[in-house]
Amino acid sequence: MKIPSNHILVIFGASGDLTNRKLVPAVFDLFEQNLVPDNFAILGLGRTQMSDADFRIKMKEGIQEFASKHNHDSTADDIDAFVQKLYYYAFNTKEESEYAGFKERLLSLDAKLNTGNNFIFYLATPPSMYTVIPCNLAKEGLADEENGFKRLIVEKPFGYDLETAKSLNKDLLKNFQEDQIYRIDHYLGKETVQNLLVTRFSNGIFEPLWNRNYVSHVEITSSESIGVGNRGGYYEGSGALRDMVQNHLLLLAGLVGMEPPAVITSNGIRNEIAKVMQSLRPIKEEEVENYVIRGQYVDSTIKGVATKGYREEQGVNPESRTETYVAMKFFIDNMRWADVPFYIRTGKMLPTRVTEVVIHFKPSPHRLFADKSGMQHNHNQLVIRIQPDEGLLMKFGMKTPGAGFNSQTVNMDFHYSDLADAYLPSAYERLLHDCMLGDSTLYSRGDVVEAAWEFVKPIQEAWKKNNNIPVHGYPAGTWGPDVADDLIEDKRQTWRYPCKNLANDGNYCEL
Ligand code: BG6
Repeated sequence: MKIPSNHILVIFGASGDLTNRKLVPAVFDLFEQNLVPDNFAILGLGRTQMSDADFRIKMKEGIQEFASKHNHDSTADDIDAFVQKLYYYAFNTKEESEYAGFKERLLSLDAKLNTGNNFIFYLATPPSMYTVIPCNLAKEGLADEENGFKRLIVEKPFGYDLETAKSLNKDLLKNFQEDQIYRIDHYLGKETVQNLLVTRFSNGIFEPLWNRNYVSHVEITSSESIGVGNRGGYYEGSGALRDMVQNHLLLLAGLVGMEPPAVITSNGIRNEIAKVMQSLRPIKEEEVENYVIRGQYVDSTIKGVATKGYREEQGVNPESRTETYVAMKFFIDNMRWADVPFYIRTGKMLPTRVTEVVIHFKPSPHRLFADKSGMQHNHNQLVIRIQPDEGLLMKFGMKTPGAGFNSQTVNMDFHYSDLADAYLPSAYERLLHDCMLGDSTLYSRGDVVEAAWEFVKPIQEAWKKNNNIPVHGYPAGTWGPDVADDLIEDKRQTWRYPCKNLANDGNYCEL
């Protein structure tokens, strides 16, 4: 693997959780694989006063807890050597006048370490700072690439709706070029998400079937078994539609639905994803109720233990109508997918943590054995397990041994964990390394983000305007409101349930 050019990674919001839990441990994992350059530093920035030494101690704890298990043989010396590359500077990023001092610190570090005036600026701050910081960086000449690269990584959420996303894109582009901007969607950094492209385009057996002639429907699930925890304040203003659907799940649909790119380049791939986003059949506001189900978890008992409802969580309005669950149906109006329903579903406090894509194939056209045995032919399914237990599962019909021609469904199952040298880099590890190399393939492009917002806009509008659209309560530990089943067009089919309801109380209620 390539080693990036010398540079400094500047993290805005370095006293926050993301830096400690994800970013610094991910860079440490790269360091352990010799994938950071010799001349390299992380400069953490934040309002909290901290010395370099304090910052190093804090980050060391994060590395010990969150760095990859793959590097479990990392020695204490490795960690000590790595943290020597970490520096900290406290300043108020809202104050334009304070940027000169920051620049002085950055440039003196650059001169001392010989990092070639190459800087990556990572915005791990509240979104309200996403326009303020880049503008001030530009004023200080720190967006200028005349000598050394200047890249900007923007964390999610990228906007709150179509208008705010457009205005954020516009603001960023005033100071940075599109090829300097890296919009993070950490799902694209997942190894198994990238493997979707390899599964589709490097195997002769899948691509010929990957279309409306052979696929009956596509199902994408991303469920979590935890609630909102201490993120209630953030989540109240977000909800599952913004938090998971607009970004992660629509991107997954984009990768499942896209045409093969002419070349594997950043724009080659992103152009194809953009075309899928542009082909999403708009859902009209008045149709939202028929296409989208929203839910919110209510208190329940999971394996004998009482669990809180969303409205009881810290930072949440006791009368909140924020959705913690979304299931929806939509269509991609193009030659490949016309009239094939795509179903996506995500939620908090569901029975298990699983993200998977299921391609449901049509049954064989002639029901030869069904006639003989009275059994229905099974529909083949290809299950792409994104996480956990990453792998691929193919379900197909086989003759039940013995007399007659009865068939049963059996599995061909591949688990990444069976590979002797299976090291799956974390999403942040992969994405940071790519940005260091100047490769934006796995980052979202501005037009793709906007197209996704455009698609969810009528849903946001309908929910805002029409209080009669129910927020279905579902007991924590169940698979969400059962009205979601009504979305499935073929009444012989249901959602795939990777595990059973855990809550004792399977009743659903209206909120
Ligand atoms: C984040 C959301 O983007 O993705 C979280 O803000 C969610 O609410 C998380 O928990 C899920 O990510 P993963 O990688 O655990 O599936």
